[in-house]
Amino acid sequence: MEIKKVGVVGCGLMGSGIAQVAAMAGYDTLVREVSQALLDKGFTGIDKSLAKFVEKGTVSADDKRAIINRLSGTTHLEDLKDCDLIIEAVTENLETKHLTFRTLDSACKPDTIFASNTSSLSITEILAATKRPQRFVGLHFFNPVPLMKLVEVVRTVVTDPAVYETVFKFAESLGKVPVRARDTGGFIVNRLLVPYLLDAVRAYEEGAGSIVDIDNGMKLGCGYPMGPFTLLDFVGLDTTYYIANIMFDEFKEKRFASPPLLKRLVLAGHFGKKTGRGFYDWSDPKNPKPTL
Ligand SMILES: NC(=O)c1ccc[n+]([C@@H]2O[C@H](COP(=O)([O-])OP(=O)(O)OC[C@H]3O[C@@H](n4cnc5c(N)ncnc54)[C@H](O)[C@@H]3O)[C@@H](O)[C@H]2O)c1
Repeated sequence: MEIKKVGVVGCGLMGSGIAQVAAMAGYDTLVREVSQALLDKGFTGIDKSLAKFVEKGTVSADDKRAIINRLSGTTHLEDLKDCDLIIEAVTENLETKHLTFRTLDSACKPDTIFASNTSSLSITEILAATKRPQRFVGLHFFNPVPLMKLVEVVRTVVTDPAVYETVFKFAESLGKVPVRARDTGGFIVNRLLVPYLLDAVRAYEEGAGSIVDIDNGMKLGCGYPMGPFTLLDFVGLDTTYYIANIMFDEFKEKRFASPPLLKRLVLAGHFGKKTGRGFYDWSDPKNPKPTL
């Protein structure tokens, strides 16, 4: 099956990035948001991101116009009925995702493929809201989508292999590097990354070193682009806590259990960079100061 028209549901952080890369790869792309204001906000973000590509010389001004012409928006989910592939990037909430896919399932043509960009929910649990389980995959992009090369293409026990290969090739056509993952908690990357981040918090709790020293240790000792506490602040402490709880529920293993300090910071509303405070104070983003 050939993918020509792509639908994206949600135009937040991830949805706007996914819509942008689909349009950049030449696909007609229709995006659905809950309000015109949120759609406009997402499209303004896309425009700014494309302007940076033009500044760097990787996209010409003419190409930018053509990319924007391939993008359109709607507030009606049913308008996505003719899409060949629909990628859902709505809020990380099972009920919201179920409602979205139930509506899409009755509106769309039978061969439309559905994909979810969920980071932590089970693809099998999401697809249960549809009558097309064989045509449902996970398509897990990374933030920021226009820059991050990786996409996890997730298959469930019921995914049709031909559908899976179609989506895998679609991910390649976006200029991404897809990896094959199964529908287990955290897929590949979060399954390995989340215990590492939680362990960094435990190491701090047990007095192994300061926030800055643990960060520098892992950055300079392992060649990582940033240390675990900086990364936690970027990902969001709330997001990490949420994913850890889902993974602990799935595997019942201590390595997925949230350390008390992470929970306390989340309860205090210190979610990291997005709230201005987490393991670091981000008042001066170029010079973050440890808060502990
Ligand atoms: N933020 C990340 O780093 C990241 C990475 C990979 C995957 N994800 C996943 O991507 C999804 C979206 O996350 P995000 O960070 O973009 O969140 P976000 O809050 O930035 O965006 C979600 C958007 O979905 C919209 N929305 C809610 N219900 C909708 C509906 N019924 N129809 C259309 N739009 C709807 C909201 O208005 C909001 O703009 C989540 O499932 C998340 O787990 C996030």
